[in-house]
Amino acid sequence: MKAVITAIAHHVPEGVYDNNWFAQKIDTTDEWIKTRTGISERHFAFEGGLTDIIVPAAEAVLKQRGITAEDIDCIIIATVTPDRIFPSSAAILQRKIGAKNAWGFDLAGACSGFLYALVTASKLIESGASKKLLLVGGDKMSSIIDFEDRTTCVLFGDGCGAVILEPSESDEYGVMDHILRMDGNGEVHLHQKAGGSMRTPTIETVTNKEHYVYQEGQAVFKAAVKGMADVSYEIMERNHMTADDVAWLIPHQANLRIIDATAERMGLSKEKVMINIDRYGNTTAGTIPICLSELYQTNKVKKGDYLVLSSFGAGYTWGSVLLRWSLEHNEKA
Ligand code: ACO
Repeated sequence: MKAVITAIAHHVPEGVYDNNWFAQKIDTTDEWIKTRTGISERHFAFEGGLTDIIVPAAEAVLKQRGITAEDIDCIIIATVTPDRIFPSSAAILQRKIGAKNAWGFDLAGACSGFLYALVTASKLIESGASKKLLLVGGDKMSSIIDFEDRTTCVLFGDGCGAVILEPSESDEYGVMDHILRMDGNGEVHLHQKAGGSMRTPTIETVTNKEHYVYQEGQAVFKAAVKGMADVSYEIMERNHMTADDVAWLIPHQANLRIIDATAERMGLSKEKVMINIDRYGNTTAGTIPICLSELYQTNKVKKGDYLVLSSFGAGYTWGSVLLRWSLEHNEKA
């Protein structure tokens, strides 16, 4: 038995902010942001919490699948920007959508959150512990970025993607293989300094802007180029596949140059690489499910296609998933 995706949707806040919006506020240019990252615009919600972004996506997947929230038995939300540290955003979402028969939890894997959660969720389905699982990857990065720090604020956006996972009698579709990695030595280069139990919030931590993303861009860039390319190539190789067998690479959208390096290592042509970083920036745990949802909504993915999903983020965390697409042609596209 395998876990398969039976519905998929995404949601981003309405507010769109292009590079020139930043150029009017801080010392940056549209040219720098585009050439160094590939980003042109991103969406931010300056009001509400993460679950306000998730509710429309969750309602859309339930509708698409033709079930009610009460049919869901488990909710997993991959995020590093939960509404609150506790209760979990999974619990808050459960109340908001009325999924009263579901238990659930949040999973903090940063940019690899969706892949970590997809593998975890698949195991719950494969073991029989869950029959209808609502899995969300999403972040409200606007809540943890310093809009005066040009080295980080231009990189991120808000958004989420949601899927319903269910068991399939056939072993032909779903999560076929995964490689998940972590190296805690990456903490020093990418973290949030305060807010957790190690450094609780004080007037000083707020004044020092310690509640925002701290990133040493170049160090993370180097690790990401190697990490994401390595696992993407490795999962192809160990499944005896070549670039011809892969329909799509769905990479985490942090930087177009990291994505290009990964595709090059796999020998994939550009047409097989899903890219939407230009419109959304880095939505952290949201990037991969948003990419998948857009591919499905535009009918660019067929049942039976092999997809390689890959990510790299804070931790460091990174990984790849080989997914065989399970949904039929999207009639409504
Ligand atoms: N506008 C103009 N100039 C800028 C900007 C900006 N927005 N930001 C930085 N610069 C300047 C720097 O100050 C530096 O100037 P200097 O040479 O005078 O010192 C120059 O541009 C080059 O800076 P670099 O940091 O070397 O730029 P780089 O080419 O490395 O690009 C970036 C920076 C985009 C952050 C890149 O390093 C990157 O993508 N890193 C990886 C990000 C990533 O993958 N993160 C993981 C996921 S995030 C998560 O898990 C939460």
